Amino acid sequence: MKVLIVFYSTYGHIFKMAEAVAEGAKGVAGAEVHIRRIPETLPEEVLEKMGAVEAQKTFSHVPVCTVDELAEADAIIFGTPTRFGNMCGQMRQFLDATGQLWANGSLIGKVGSVFASSATQHGGQESTILTFHVTLLHQGFVIVGLPYAFQGQMRIDEVTGGSPYGATTIAGGDGSRMPSENELDAARFQGKHVATIAVKLAE
Ligand SMILES: Cc1cc2nc3c(=O)[nH]c(=O)nc-3n(C[C@H](O)[C@H](O)[C@H](O)COP(=O)(O)O)c2cc1C
Repeated sequence: MKVLIVFYSTYGHIFKMAEAVAEGAKGVAGAEVHIRRIPETLPEEVLEKMGAVEAQKTFSHVPVCTVDELAEADAIIFGTPTRFGNMCGQMRQFLDATGQLWANGSLIGKVGSVFASSATQHGGQESTILTFHVTLLHQGFVIVGLPYAFQGQMRIDEVTGGSPYGATTIAGGDGSRMPSENELDAARFQGKHVATIAVKLAE
């Protein structure tokens, strides 16, 4: 049973979350877990102006995802930073290249799940995940979120991401806040939860 974690990250927050999602999924017997990154579409000079070059080097070793790899997976967990309350353009462009998979019904019945990050607490994490789900539904995915069994999403003693829609992290206006332990726990829970459901579906 193959679990594919596909992410795009500019400054590394979503990469950190992707690693935690993978950790959680790997804990499930029978799950074979792979991490892939979405191809960058911005020119190098733009990335330099955005201050993203050094951060992106920390995950440049992760293989770039191909569209065909989506068809080979049993479960796919997508990670994206928020862009104006939606998924990032890099992810959109990648998904818009899956028309052939849609035409062949290649993704129907696979488990799909989404995690996200935003600069601010109320900057659109939930809308990013929910609008992402629309695309997954068109492709026939069975959508899985982050149930309240992950109690960490109830916390109000510290600033934290995480909602029933999926694990999230808050990067801060200047991007200086990296995922907290609670947010990483949410990501691990989501990875494990998705893999567990995918194993059951495979049976
Ligand atoms: C063009 C653009 C639009 C963004 N839109 C939002 C937004 O709507 N809400 C928000 O809180 N953060 C927004 N951000 C901040 C990113 O979501 C943040 O940098 C990202 O979550 C960090 O994750 P990463 O390091 O994995 O890229 C935006 C950033 C850029 C560059």
